[in-house]
Amino acid sequence: MLDLILRHAVLPDGRRDIDVGVRADRIVAVEPGLKAAACDEIDCAGQLLAPPFVDAHFHMDATLSYGMPRVNRSGTLLEGIQLWSELKPQLTQDALVERALRYCDWAVAKGLLAIRSHVDVCDPRLLAVEALLHVRERVKPYLDLQLVAFPQDGVLRTPGALDNLKRALDLGVDVVGGIPHFERTMQDGAESVRLLCELAAERGLPVDMHCDETDDPASRHVETLADCARRLGLQGRVAASHLTSMHSMDNDYVAKLLPLMAEGGLAAIANPLINITLQGRRDTYPKRRGMTRVPELLAAGIPVAFGQDCVLDPWYAGGSADLLEVAHMGLHVAQMTAQDAMRQCFACVTEIPARILGLPGYGIAPGNRADLVLLQARDPAEAIRLRATRLAVIRGGRTIARTPPATARLQLSGRPQTVDWTLDRADAAPVNTTEVPPCPHSRP
Ligand code: FE2
Repeated sequence: MLDLILRHAVLPDGRRDIDVGVRADRIVAVEPGLKAAACDEIDCAGQLLAPPFVDAHFHMDATLSYGMPRVNRSGTLLEGIQLWSELKPQLTQDALVERALRYCDWAVAKGLLAIRSHVDVCDPRLLAVEALLHVRERVKPYLDLQLVAFPQDGVLRTPGALDNLKRALDLGVDVVGGIPHFERTMQDGAESVRLLCELAAERGLPVDMHCDETDDPASRHVETLADCARRLGLQGRVAASHLTSMHSMDNDYVAKLLPLMAEGGLAAIANPLINITLQGRRDTYPKRRGMTRVPELLAAGIPVAFGQDCVLDPWYAGGSADLLEVAHMGLHVAQMTAQDAMRQCFACVTEIPARILGLPGYGIAPGNRADLVLLQARDPAEAIRLRATRLAVIRGGRTIARTPPATARLQLSGRPQTVDWTLDRADAAPVNTTEVPPCPHSRP
């Protein structure tokens, strides 16, 4: 006797009419026509059953602070950093916890059950670190929160930042962060990459740096990061976030860089909503998109995740913890409109970030944790197109959020009464099932 069976599901890899059996908090069967009984059954009715969304790049200490103490008038990254430094002295631990928990509620409702959040360590009080460590424990039953020690104002540029960062790691922060392009000089940037990678190697921790988040094609710290990862044996444990300067780099240089990144076992994390918003701000026209080269990175065997980065904070006035909105923007900005490419965009907010974060037991397979999201869509491309409703969100075999199906009633004579958002693709070409590039990533 099982606890739960989800019947007649479509899986992200294209398998159809699949039943998923759950006992306690584990998936025990994934097969068509499962011959078993269960205490509870959900009829997926040919809709998409996916593993939960995973956000590989977020700032939970800043989220939901939009307008505090004022809004970002220029809309630039640098005014956002300035604004954040104005807000920091006013932060309280209670307010940080309250905002973070509220965001986690939004995340659960959207089927987002794992988040890697950077947390600023430049304030010697480490208020935000302590608040988010508390939140990490509070949400553990329903959301995996991973924290990155992030020296927002530069680890070399800010007196005491390195000590603060080490104290944050001592307190239990999971990942070493950095921001080399914000250090005073290119040399300082490279030096920060080296010392932070050495620190991570010493402590056996992963690295995730804000790297080259600028339109300046001469910002090439990713090269140093790839080399440090190779030299220190950190392959598979280093992520480079943003990499927007790659958008503007010379093609010849990128042709050299991509194999170096693959050799260093780097993962890349693009943040489409924020990159398209913050980059290109000094351009007139043509205006650059600013997002890194996602299809080229994937083709080079480098895993790429799409992150949310910001929601209602000094940098961004939008967002809603909806990783399908993130994938939707990523798909458009990267022009990933082929069927396989759209499927890859879905992987960029599910299985690829799960591997970057090293989440154990992730995915729809026997033995894995029964973390599942039932979407009102028939396949990953449709889920992205419709930013599909999360009909049910399941964590460890237990339903933790439900949303009614999106529908609209028409009042038009001679027309159906309800809107059907799907397109019958019975005569469409069959979908190829291209493998997502392998990712060697796993946490130590
Ligand atoms: Fe960020």
